[in-house]
Amino acid sequence: MALFGKLRWISRRFTTLAATPLRICVVGSGPAGFYTAEKILKAHKEVEVDIVDRLPTPFGLVRSGVAPDHPETKIVINQFSRVAQNDRCSFLGNVSVGSSVSLPELHEMYNAVVLAYGAESDRTLGIPGEELGGIHAAREFVWWYNGHPDCRNLAPDLTSTDTAVILGQGNVALDVARILLRPTMELAKTDIASHALAALEESSIRKVYLIGRRGPVQAACTAKELREVLGIKDISIQVKQADLVTTPADEVVMKNNRIRRRVYDLILKAASSGHSPPLPDQRELHLVFFRKPDRFLESKDRSGHVAGVLLEETTLQGDDLGKQIAVGNGVFEEISCGLVLKSIGFKSVAIDGLPFDHDKGIVPNVGGRVLADSSTDFPQYETGLYVCGWLKRGPTGIIGTNLYCAEETVASLSEDIERGVLTSNSAKPGRGGLLQLLDRRNIRVLQFHDWERIDTEEKRGGNLKNKPREKLATWEELLQVASK
Ligand SMILES: Cc1cc2nc3c(=O)[nH]c(=O)nc-3n(C[C@H](O)[C@H](O)[C@H](O)COP(=O)(O)OP(=O)(O)OC[C@H]3O[C@@H](n4cnc5c(N)ncnc54)[C@H](O)[C@@H]3O)c2cc1C
Ligand SMILES: NC(=O)c1ccc[n+]([C@@H]2O[C@H](COP(=O)([O-])OP(=O)(O)OC[C@H]3O[C@@H](n4cnc5c(N)ncnc54)[C@H](OP(=O)(O)O)[C@@H]3O)[C@@H](O)[C@H]2O)c1
Repeated sequence: MALFGKLRWISRRFTTLAATPLRICVVGSGPAGFYTAEKILKAHKEVEVDIVDRLPTPFGLVRSGVAPDHPETKIVINQFSRVAQNDRCSFLGNVSVGSSVSLPELHEMYNAVVLAYGAESDRTLGIPGEELGGIHAAREFVWWYNGHPDCRNLAPDLTSTDTAVILGQGNVALDVARILLRPTMELAKTDIASHALAALEESSIRKVYLIGRRGPVQAACTAKELREVLGIKDISIQVKQADLVTTPADEVVMKNNRIRRRVYDLILKAASSGHSPPLPDQRELHLVFFRKPDRFLESKDRSGHVAGVLLEETTLQGDDLGKQIAVGNGVFEEISCGLVLKSIGFKSVAIDGLPFDHDKGIVPNVGGRVLADSSTDFPQYETGLYVCGWLKRGPTGIIGTNLYCAEETVASLSEDIERGVLTSNSAKPGRGGLLQLLDRRNIRVLQFHDWERIDTEEKRGGNLKNKPREKLATWEELLQVASK
């Protein structure tokens, strides 16, 4: 392009930008959504951002995942609230992409859409008996004790058994074990949902087994979280000495990875710290390694309900240290239990019109740009479509990981803004168009001030019970209080 033509093109582009602000929709108000919105608003003074969430409440897993006894982790909500209160930002709750509005409709109404809707399903084991009563995904149990309205009625049976088995040894498994074992007097001071606290107060569960298919050197948890569960008041920690034997390969892993070393040392110390044998009535935490679930066993007295888990002993195979896999060796043992929580990882859900990698459970992308077709050598992108957070990387990483993830996605988006990829000849309707469409469909959109009403009510309820908040845990209550 000749210089004069180029200048005219740039000037036309700037005129369009000045007249019609770019409108960007972020789907999901968890950490990935809020960090994305924050970065966009900071980098582009002319852009408007709407954050859409299917729930009446914002903040994703910071509200419905982070354990109630970790209030310091939830302080990030203050930062996210400031983003939502920015004049160029809106929170639109009670809007589910895929049902209230389709992705193609949203895409049409905005210059760009950033998908950050997390991972709201679960990996499965695919072994016999998985459908038996008394077996839940850890996600459901966590949503239940954190007052997520979709799991208000889960009603895990905590009174017909004294034993719970948790499959997996990541930080979610540790959270769940802690909630089952921690004295309820301590939980009562947290923002745990009141229905969960009441059920835990009645709980007969005394023994919790945390089962890892690999060894103590490979346990997926981190040291701080492990120390916390091992430090629960008056519990007895049980570990088989045979599970603690390390191989030369383990020693190499621990030499190169301080976290693995610390986790192993904590387990070793707990195993030898004079907690055994447990006293009568003492709660027990059993750390079990090198065992993989083979099948669930059905109760003979209670048809359709779990009575135990059959575990197969494993050995580790593979040369890639740290990534060795657990292979069954044909030796089996059974643990009787009436409650099983599968904590083997979350899984994202595909929505219509979105490219999705079903094996990895993520939206295929390069640097957050959604790939239209990942099978070709030359990447073909979906114009104006981006992804961030667990939906982009898979269900791992702490809150802060999503900040770096958002930086990468917003860098790709900014590059596309600068290249003029996201501008169109006619202005996109954005929020106005979306609200009209939702109104036509009789969908009641909740804005940030509606959430603030819920927030105020929850804090008021909490105040009466000497806890930070009393969560409203049904759709009806949430919608009713939001419209007061
Ligand atoms: C049990 C648990 C405890 C954790 N504890 C900690 C901790 O203590 N510290 C820490 O640093 N990290 C913790 N993490 C990790 C942290 O929560 C995640 O890294 C983070 O929440 C992932 O962010 P995200 O935005 O990708 O997903 P999410 O936080 O899951 O947010 C996704 C949002 O999308 C919304 N949504 C879903 N589907 C739709 C749809 N169709 N339309 C519109 N909206 C939709 C959801 O309602 C949700 O608000 C924990 C994770 C779990 C599972
Ligand atoms: N306090 C915190 O900071 C906190 C709290 C909660 C969660 N989080 C974060 O949230 C993320 C998700 O946590 P998570 O615990 O759900 O996931 P995770 O850390 O990936 O742990 C998953 C666990 O499930 C096991 N597993 C997977 N498939 C299995 C199978 N088929 N059979 C048996 N076991 C299987 C894994 O074993 P293998 O290792 O053998 O695969 C691992 O022990 C993590 O990044 C975590 O750190 C942080």
